[in-house]
Amino acid sequence: MRELAEALAVSTQVEAEVRAASDREAQRLVAAVLDQTPAQLSLRMRRGPSLASAEAAAIHGAAVRRLSGEPLAYAVGTAAFRELVLQVDPRVLIPRPETEEVVGVALALVAERPGGLAIDIGTGSGAIALSLAVEGRFERVIATDLSVDAVDVARANAHRVAAPVPVEFRVGADLAPVTGERARLIVSNPPYIAHAEADQLAPGVRDWEPAVALFAAEDGMARYHALLDGALAVLEPGGWLVCELDARRAQRTAELARAEGFASVGVMCDLSGRDRILVAQRPSDAASHPAVPPNSAGGRHDA
Ligand SMILES: C[S@@+](CC[C@H](N)C(=O)[O-])C[C@H]1O[C@@H](n2cnc3c(N)ncnc32)[C@H](O)[C@@H]1O
Repeated sequence: MRELAEALAVSTQVEAEVRAASDREAQRLVAAVLDQTPAQLSLRMRRGPSLASAEAAAIHGAAVRRLSGEPLAYAVGTAAFRELVLQVDPRVLIPRPETEEVVGVALALVAERPGGLAIDIGTGSGAIALSLAVEGRFERVIATDLSVDAVDVARANAHRVAAPVPVEFRVGADLAPVTGERARLIVSNPPYIAHAEADQLAPGVRDWEPAVALFAAEDGMARYHALLDGALAVLEPGGWLVCELDARRAQRTAELARAEGFASVGVMCDLSGRDRILVAQRPSDAASHPAVPPNSAGGRHDA
């Protein structure tokens, strides 16, 4: 592990203050390959640094991939997301901590109304859909993606996770695969980077993660246009749409939601204080619309 941390520090040309990050990353790599938590790994190391030759070979293989620039999650083949450990490879986006917050907000919005259908548009690894199925109290979950490859990965993850409610996977664009459904909740982390912003991305993202998961036309807004245009027809009255946002276009997206006829439109901050989560409700049949309840994310302000 010490050798890997040194090599990581050299390969990424980091200085002393970032060496701690290389140490942590080396620990995460070894722990992930050995399928252990960091705490389990340090316990094992205290008992003595013995490794089976197959374990050593697997660590070496993952280390070589990481040192060639491959993101850690792809090099080890897994990523942690909320309560889950998901299989990931370059067919799908590596699920991010911000998206864990999006799921937390979505679950809080419907916590007092168990049952119903939850939909995840652009499921990738299945991170959102499977978390909703495991942590929520829905009757069923539908997960969609334009990418057949992504749906294959998400299905494999569903087998690993064995959620307590049915999770159905459908291939197709935007809301087309869920036409005719009535959802209590739609969650989406769509692609939202403008093509012109590609050179601002870290090489590990730009060169490794699938372009279909990152980029959207219309200055990054195309998928929001499609979602906001069609979600009212798929949501039940009082149902919620929750989307991850690019902070640079958060207020524009909220204005669009309001113009489409959504109620209780709000933009919530992530834990680092950036506008990252859109919440929007299909107006209920009653005249009054409930306010957005507080949640664990960084707060809410009206759009
Ligand atoms: C940013 S990734 C999110 C993946 C996963 N939900 C997550 O949060 O980690 C966006 C996903 O949307 C999918 N996608 C792109 N365009 C789409 C479209 N028009 N309709 C449905 N899915 C789309 C991509 O294949 C990708 O899996």
